[in-house]
Amino acid sequence: MQSAYLNGSFLPLAEARVPVMDRGFLFGDGAYEVIPVYSRRPFRLTEHLRRLQRTLDGIRIANPLSDAGWMRLIGEIIARNEPEDQSVYLQITRGADTKRNHAFPAQVVPTVFMMSEPLVTPPAAQRETGIAAVSAVDFRWLRCDLKTTSLLANCLLRQLAVDAGCVETILFRDGCMIEGAASNIFAVRDGVLLAPPKNHLMLPGITYDVVLELAAANGLRAEVRDVSEGEARAAAELWMTSSTKEVLPITVLDGRPVGDGKPGPVFHKMYAWYQDFKARVMRRA
Ligand code: PDD
Repeated sequence: MQSAYLNGSFLPLAEARVPVMDRGFLFGDGAYEVIPVYSRRPFRLTEHLRRLQRTLDGIRIANPLSDAGWMRLIGEIIARNEPEDQSVYLQITRGADTKRNHAFPAQVVPTVFMMSEPLVTPPAAQRETGIAAVSAVDFRWLRCDLKTTSLLANCLLRQLAVDAGCVETILFRDGCMIEGAASNIFAVRDGVLLAPPKNHLMLPGITYDVVLELAAANGLRAEVRDVSEGEARAAAELWMTSSTKEVLPITVLDGRPVGDGKPGPVFHKMYAWYQDFKARVMRRA
């Protein structure tokens, strides 16, 4: 049975209930994080909590817990769930009001919810053949750096991929590659790793940081800069990264092969570095 946390109590997930007047339900007014847990150890928890604080500051919700409080709760939800590798989801909404009003209530208590799901990394076949992606114009708002629960645009964009039998949608805005509907995207050209820069249009991924750190540690040349749509479409390799997908090669974009249509040599290196890092660091964090 999956154990969840809601406003001070642990309970079975199926029994967790929030009031319909919660602004998370009415307006998508909340922040969230997804934290991968390897061998019962949350990975880069400090960085996830820092990103959570940034989102809460950006949407003007006071953090209901200290870092120590979050660490204790996250430790407890991990302990209460069975899998060794988990994906801990946490969200804070502004809370429940008595009437529906766009403006913030004068006094409101945030809703704190947490659950754990088994961390299922992509099947080997996806890594061996790569995944297919479609592209779309990024029609999200101008604060994509905040990890908010208002994800309707991301859901619509991801569904475009699913409808086309693909895994991810790569988003382009004003001629530049931004990120995926629920992942960051890297390109490889002439053996150089290209990463779109962190700004208000893209979520600063924790896995994105790991990939750039592994590139630096292993002497792979990387450039963090705008990647034009033309460069992305002509890239030798494209990858998607996220806490749950890790690093996955994209071998088809809009029905056309990326490079030679197979996972490339730079991906194979990065995948090996990532797995080594997981065994050495993440499982012992
Ligand atoms: N999403 N960009 C977007 C829009 C995302 O939703 C995510 C992750 C990422 C990658 O971030 P990270 O490496 O920290 O997981 C980038 C999570 C997994 C989700 O919404 O489920």
